[in-house]
Amino acid sequence: MRTIIEPFRIWTVRPIRPTSYEERLAALEAGHYNLLRIPARDVVVDLITDSGTGAMSSQQWAAMMTADEAYAGSESLFRLEDAARALFGYRHVIPTYQGRAAKRLLCAALVQQGCTVPANTHLDTTRSAVRAAGGDPVELPILEAGRSDSFHPFKGNIDLDRLRQLIEQLGAKSVPVVFLAVSSPAGGGQPVSLENIKAVRDLTARHGIRLFLDCAYFAENAYFIHRREDRWRGRPLEDIAREMFRLADGVMLSARKDGIVNTGGLLAFNDQDLAVKLRRSLLRGEGLATHGGLAARDLEGMAIGLQEALDTNHLAHRLETIEHLARSLAREGVPVIQPPGGHAVQVDARAFLPHLEPEDLPAQALACALYLVAGIRVAEIGSLRLGGRTDSRGAPLPVPHDLVRYSFPRRTYTRSHVDYVIEATLEVFANRHRVAGLEILDEGDRRHLTASLRPRGGKLLRDDHPRELPPELRTLGPCSHPLIEKRRSTRAFADLHVSDAVLDRLLQSFRWAPSCANRQPWRLVVTRRSAERTALDATLMEGNEWARAAPILIAVLMNPESAATVHGINYAPFDCGLATENLLLAAVAEGLVGHPMAGFDEPAARQALGVPDPWRIVALVALGFPGDPAHLDAATRAKDERPRQRPPIAQTVCYDRWTDPEPAPKA
Ligand SMILES: Cc1cc2nc3c(=O)[nH]c(=O)nc-3n(C[C@H](O)[C@H](O)[C@H](O)COP(=O)(O)O)c2cc1C
Repeated sequence: MRTIIEPFRIWTVRPIRPTSYEERLAALEAGHYNLLRIPARDVVVDLITDSGTGAMSSQQWAAMMTADEAYAGSESLFRLEDAARALFGYRHVIPTYQGRAAKRLLCAALVQQGCTVPANTHLDTTRSAVRAAGGDPVELPILEAGRSDSFHPFKGNIDLDRLRQLIEQLGAKSVPVVFLAVSSPAGGGQPVSLENIKAVRDLTARHGIRLFLDCAYFAENAYFIHRREDRWRGRPLEDIAREMFRLADGVMLSARKDGIVNTGGLLAFNDQDLAVKLRRSLLRGEGLATHGGLAARDLEGMAIGLQEALDTNHLAHRLETIEHLARSLAREGVPVIQPPGGHAVQVDARAFLPHLEPEDLPAQALACALYLVAGIRVAEIGSLRLGGRTDSRGAPLPVPHDLVRYSFPRRTYTRSHVDYVIEATLEVFANRHRVAGLEILDEGDRRHLTASLRPRGGKLLRDDHPRELPPELRTLGPCSHPLIEKRRSTRAFADLHVSDAVLDRLLQSFRWAPSCANRQPWRLVVTRRSAERTALDATLMEGNEWARAAPILIAVLMNPESAATVHGINYAPFDCGLATENLLLAAVAEGLVGHPMAGFDEPAARQALGVPDPWRIVALVALGFPGDPAHLDAATRAKDERPRQRPPIAQTVCYDRWTDPEPAPKA
């Protein structure tokens, strides 16, 4: 069966309160366009994080009811130790109230002032723990990790060459430990291969450096290996996990993720001296070092969570759900970071909202639009969270990306919730040209947690003319792709900037076109606002004045002498037409409109642009975001509102041999 079903029955439920658009707008206003300041009761599907937000099983709840809350020698602690030893294979197990406490403890014991701690990617809490101990957290992901179009199966791998160089350059004494996040949190959970872990093990062992796994996402990592790594494909997850842990000296775990509890963490390792040291420091800080700040019932929940984490049905459902979301969005052109991770899908907000600059906080604007349209809460990882940082000389650090992250709490949402998220995202995508940028009014203490924002121009979703397909379009008959149906030669342009990145993709689309004998007898002259553009505007014929408002006007040049001529037919105009249609369809895909024109004074246009013989300008294309037709003069507007006319298909197509077409019906 192909339908993804939840591999569980739901016998405890928390109702979701449906909200109206007006209620969500009011909640956004009250929360100052900061989604972390919106009460959870006003959220329909909450994908802000998968950490600590999962659902525990009936076995976990049952075990919690039988917890032994003794201060010393609790049965619950023994059960957790047994479960952790069975999974990780290490002798010492130290529970902590969260992963961050485990990391702080470990770093305080291992990392000295001035040391460097490399990792593939540091989880936020690990980075802080290294810094708090006086160390320098360094990240060495492989190059492919930063390429959103690369489908590398193990984007979480550490770059071994750079790790080797770093160790040789600094000396092993300055590198007390290497952390490998399995899986890496970057990219929504990108896995690390066993081959990579083994190579790191060999390298660190040669230099006497410890290797610890930051293993909040150990189960999804094992599942990816089970699916993708040749030597381990199809092998039981328990064997894969055992091998991962065998290769390391220990683990630090936030159990709020793959451990499927709402709070809890632990450290596990073999080193006796380290155990004595950590227990001593716990004794000083916390008293008896048995519970790590947790109630015994939390230890019980964690013990069962560790046993359930590697359930293949659970992981298959989880990963397939996430892939379903990523695939469904990407198929419709939403710029999804590929491949999706094990616990989250990330969308590139700069490509989604190409009319916004990083200063307009595109990821936060997109996150707010998703909330406004459907009550979905996703996380911003971009100019709001990462912006405002400076280097050691006080110069602003550029923000590398603007992403929104859809993180999936474990066992909490069903397939229909995911389909709702897909529908909502596509709704925002269809209206993306209407999404306004945001500005920060007040940063508060910690920008992304506390900032107050507002939409530039006052409204997050600007008003638009209706974008419904007109009924007569449907009489044309369904065609193969909605892009083709959506393309229209409309004449109203919005006063919005088209970024160079988008323009570049359109120009590339033009170049992908076929041409007779692959002669590509074309060139393009792209004009924005310039003296040449003003001169080109002046060549537009009466009735085409609307094109002056387009932010971009492209001249499509053809060279009949370089084009192929077959049986007396010169293919230059045909070739240029094919390539121009590519550009027009690509424009629709980017949310733009492109309008081709022959109505201009061609010799004057050639002169305006300095086009030499034998080149001719076969068409001009006005390009920009669609605008409000209300701003057009009445005659032009009437043209835009005219029903689309195509004769019946029998007039266009005949089969086997020529047949005279029926006379066209009167329009
Ligand atoms: C080569 C070419 C030249 C065109 N010239 C003009 C023009 O000068 N002015 C204009 O408003 N539309 C022009 N158009 C747009 C057509 O009128 C339009 O494509 C046609 O009416 C079909 O409508 P649609 O593109 O919305 O499907 C031109 C289209 C092509 C392909």
